[in-house]
Amino acid sequence: MKTFVITGASDGIGAEMACQIAQAHGADGAIVLAARNRDKLETVAAQCRKYGASVQVVPTNVADEGQCRALIDQAARHCGRIDVLINNAGVSAQALFEDVKAQDLHWYEQLMKVNLWGSVWCTHAALPHLKASCGRIVAVSSLAGLVGVPGRTAYSATKFAMTGFFEALRAELKDSGVSVTTAYPGVVATRIRYHGLNARGEAAGVSGLKEDDAMSTAECARLIIAGMNGRRREVVMTTRGKLGRFVKLLAPGWVEKMALAALKVEARPH
Ligand SMILES: NC(=O)c1ccc[n+]([C@@H]2O[C@H](COP(=O)([O-])OP(=O)(O)OC[C@H]3O[C@@H](n4cnc5c(N)ncnc54)[C@H](OP(=O)(O)O)[C@@H]3O)[C@@H](O)[C@H]2O)c1
Repeated sequence: MKTFVITGASDGIGAEMACQIAQAHGADGAIVLAARNRDKLETVAAQCRKYGASVQVVPTNVADEGQCRALIDQAARHCGRIDVLINNAGVSAQALFEDVKAQDLHWYEQLMKVNLWGSVWCTHAALPHLKASCGRIVAVSSLAGLVGVPGRTAYSATKFAMTGFFEALRAELKDSGVSVTTAYPGVVATRIRYHGLNARGEAAGVSGLKEDDAMSTAECARLIIAGMNGRRREVVMTTRGKLGRFVKLLAPGWVEKMALAALKVEARPH
């Protein structure tokens, strides 16, 4: 039975990936769902079980190393193996750096714990199991991990950190049989920006981005899973994303202009 561990599986892209994996593997799939909200995880688990998948819910705060290690330990003991680890849990933030007061700056560290360290701790604990199964690691970064996005200094920092960590790890694992796929979604239609943090480190309640052309979670999950199945190094979504990383080398000023234009007027530097 193929075993998948998915963090951030209670909502958005992670919940959709869990359902698509359950549908694709049916009774041959064992899926371990992790996030903080148990009720939402149970709702996703019920949807996955309809396809015949064996599903385990493990409430986990990935900002806590002990909980990350316990998640992997529980998954390995319950399923006997781990074939795929999808590091998807993430929190967004939207604030101009100069608007963040010194006493509030600590949430930058907290964001790093969730977005980077959660992935590092889970991956470290899962690596022996993934090597045994010649498995797959997926890291859900962001276009903000390829191009610095104004209003997102904290978020971009965490996602660039993920990009660097998993690029280096991919090279280290080259001959191990374990693949590392980093996904770079653009704007996807989830609530991430609404419950992301504002300058005071509180839930923003609004999105600072224009969301009209947001990609559906179904399409985003489909692209990540295809990249994972094909053991691709990267999944860069949207033409703007594909162009942006190369144009940045030739005309960085133009890319900055485009990044600013993606912000709503009220979220731009004043
Ligand atoms: N949506 C986009 O436009 C977009 C674009 C680029 C990249 N991404 C990345 O895609 C991933 C998924 O985002 P999404 O849009 O699906 O967001 P979402 O709908 O807000 O879901 C985020 C998931 O992460 C979990 N999570 C948050 N903090 C956690 C913590 N401390 N411990 C464990 N789980 C935690 C949430 O569950 P609980 O609250 O239950 O813990 C939830 O399941 C993130 O890494 C995000 O950065 C998203």
